[in-house]
Amino acid sequence: MKVLVVGSGGREHALAWGLTRSPSVSEVFVGPGNPGIKLPARTVALEASEPNAVVELANELDIDLVIVGPEVPLVNGVVDAVQASGRHAFGPTAAGARLEGSKAWMKEVLAGAGVPTAAHGSFTDAATAATFLNTLEGLYVVKTDGLAAGKGVLVTESEEEALLAVHDYLSGEAFGDAGRTVVIEEGLRGPELSLLVICNGDPDAAVALAPAQDFKRIHDLDHGPNTGGMGAYSPVPIVGPEMVSQVMATAVTPTLHSLAASGIEYRGVLYAGIMLTADGPKVLEYNVRFGDPECQAVVPRLTTDLGELCWASATGATLPEVKFRDEACVTVVLASENYPGSPRTGDVIEGLTAAQEVPDTAIFHAGTTLRVRDGALLTAGGRVLAVTAWGPQIADARSRAYECAKLISWPGVQYRTDIAQLAAKMPSAQF
Ligand code: AMP
Ligand code: GLY
Repeated sequence: MKVLVVGSGGREHALAWGLTRSPSVSEVFVGPGNPGIKLPARTVALEASEPNAVVELANELDIDLVIVGPEVPLVNGVVDAVQASGRHAFGPTAAGARLEGSKAWMKEVLAGAGVPTAAHGSFTDAATAATFLNTLEGLYVVKTDGLAAGKGVLVTESEEEALLAVHDYLSGEAFGDAGRTVVIEEGLRGPELSLLVICNGDPDAAVALAPAQDFKRIHDLDHGPNTGGMGAYSPVPIVGPEMVSQVMATAVTPTLHSLAASGIEYRGVLYAGIMLTADGPKVLEYNVRFGDPECQAVVPRLTTDLGELCWASATGATLPEVKFRDEACVTVVLASENYPGSPRTGDVIEGLTAAQEVPDTAIFHAGTTLRVRDGALLTAGGRVLAVTAWGPQIADARSRAYECAKLISWPGVQYRTDIAQLAAKMPSAQF
């Protein structure tokens, strides 16, 4: 089977890595991909968010399966367009992708399906929003309704700061049109869980991948603003199979049934962002794609053929059993100076050759480019590289990931030093 992966980040690099190791897949193309993606996978120029461009490329290459990585092409209807052209695509149609494209709508779906989640209100005017904020206590959460690359969420103990954010979002200054509706939530507390669930359109057939945990804030000890994710690991010692079943039964399955009842046959990945509160697991958000960097920590553990899994999901066939290596994976993201603000770019990345020699690691590119004049590898975005390492225990994978990360440098490089630190000290989890 010939596969086209749509996207250019670390997640798409990890998907290509997994697909080139899938016996069911004969050729892997990534459009537009990035300089880290090497043979046997091939990169091809593509305007990834443009449904017609994806269809044209799939026709040109005679692709059997298009796998859509990021949320924007999904929200724009890439899957609908590929299906209409008579080919198969992995991911939800635009109607299902709205779960991520509109947080206000997602909260309505959750309420309709009776899924535990934070109390909330959706607002388009500051005065009503301020009144609602006043009813909350302790921890305030302000989110853009629309897509904001993981940066549109403020969690604060200051009502004043929350109110300022409401004004910035609603005015369009902070996030353009994505912020013209805001979702305000009560703050929940507890450890988080990212559960990536593969769906084939049958709400009762969805299958969870191994649990992962993401590190959203830019600095150690969860300080600083939210990012797209600064690191991840899998398995998660505090999340065993019973917790996964509970999240499936109380959140994922009812959500899929509720979508089905409104005519949406959901396929692809449903990523449940869960907070494990004292009152049980609650949904923080749904994403409609693999998490980035969770994908980089989960795919290398997968022993099931990734191509076969995505094919079954896309075509509505019975999903194969998903199996994982016992080894743990830890992923550390290396970011540019000033990320998640506007990042410094264009610096030469040093040390990659030595880093690539560290055994049991994979270095996934996210924001890199090649300098035309001499082919030097340059930083080209906020999140630049994701270093994944594996080992028998989380502690082994962790020390290897950092050993590898330390060899790589450029001016202003930043990464968290506490990815999987607590988990590495806990008794190991098997999943
Ligand atoms: P979201 O994009 O909605 O998942 O939010 C990004 C991050 O913000 C989450 O991973 C949490 O760390 C945090 N967050 C979101 N909603 C809440 C909430 N209601 N209470 C506490 N933290 C939250
Ligand atoms: N790592 C969080 C996300 O992919 O949204």
